Amino acid sequence: MSALLNERHHELELPEHWPDSLRPEVLRRIDHEPPYFICDLDTIRDRYRRLGTCLPGIECFYALKCNPATEVLQTLAQLGSSFEIASLGELQILQAEGIEPADVIYSNTVKPAKHVAAAYEAGLWRFAFDGEGELHKLAEHAPGSAVYVRLRVDDTTSIFPLSRKFGASAWDAHQLLITARDLGLRPYGVTFHVGSQCTTAGAWRQALTAVGRLLSTLQDDGIELEMLNLSGGFPARYTEPVPSIGEIAGAIWPALNALLPYVPPKLAVEPGRFLVAESAVLSAGVIGRERRAGENWIYLDVGAYNGLIETRQATHWTYPLWTSRLDHAVAPQEVFTVTGPTCDSSDTLFPSARLPSTLEVGDVIYIGTVGAYTLSYGSSFNGFSPPSSLFVGAL
Ligand SMILES: Cc1ncc(COP(=O)(O)O)c(C=O)c1O
Repeated sequence: MSALLNERHHELELPEHWPDSLRPEVLRRIDHEPPYFICDLDTIRDRYRRLGTCLPGIECFYALKCNPATEVLQTLAQLGSSFEIASLGELQILQAEGIEPADVIYSNTVKPAKHVAAAYEAGLWRFAFDGEGELHKLAEHAPGSAVYVRLRVDDTTSIFPLSRKFGASAWDAHQLLITARDLGLRPYGVTFHVGSQCTTAGAWRQALTAVGRLLSTLQDDGIELEMLNLSGGFPARYTEPVPSIGEIAGAIWPALNALLPYVPPKLAVEPGRFLVAESAVLSAGVIGRERRAGENWIYLDVGAYNGLIETRQATHWTYPLWTSRLDHAVAPQEVFTVTGPTCDSSDTLFPSARLPSTLEVGDVIYIGTVGAYTLSYGSSFNGFSPPSSLFVGAL
């Protein structure tokens, strides 16, 4: 039997990072059919400025994969952000926005040869790599270009680790940069990724230890790197507390000075999630409410396949939830399994969400912190289109 929860839980307070412009009382007045994704561009501006305040002098290359909406790209471009891409398709999105390929970096370490050639032809000159095969590809299709090696670092304190698929050891990275030079490429820099939604500031310090080792051994071979790219991983607030960008910067600055034999003149970051996640709310309509095998089920008009696949990629991963119900904060709560609209049970989003017991078909669930890795993942599986997008905040 599911629990009827009468006591007040923290879910009865709207989280403080929920944008004011997207509060439930505002969303209730929006005359737009769910499901829709609504993004507050001023929140993105605020996060970009926070990043610049805490990491001054470090160039921001927004990781486009996270949310490539035109409005998001224009907002960041107006603030002076540069961009990081994973494919030629992403470069073409940026070109359509008037962004110069020469100002873009290409951080996917293993790329289709055709994408490399076309990006190089367009003027992009900085490419990541983490293996020898890629170096030969770059030497052939982007001769003379500047290359930066991706180090494998400890990403175990992140919610979405990346390192098993990517990254070279400090020893291999050293050898690879020498090979790069021998192939006529320009050994330009080093990067790493501590994993997306990294939950400890110490992860950056640990990664910088490996960078220091690499820079020292390279000096012995007469190579000094121009760029250190700290990449992404800076966390956003979902339901659990995370280190602030100030706390992370407080780990990075002393580590740069203490652990590196020299600080490369160009420092860069490639944030995605931190800049955009907290800017958006998803309005999802309740299309069904059923009770099965003692469980309460809520069916929404949007599921894992329409943009919320991250709910399936990590365990214990929760989002701030609210509903359109006027009695939301006072009705008793019940535990619900919240699922999507498709014929596949794997589009279930939340196995035990606490929501008002009064919730019924036609109500709307507002899912907070959905600005990152949502629309860019959305498919039309089973004929259910991804949510439409709305934007608030001046462009
Ligand atoms: C190469 C690279 N840079 C930057 C990012 C952005 O990471 P995050 O959204 O965690 O900041 C990613 C994410 O996968 C990535 O693969």
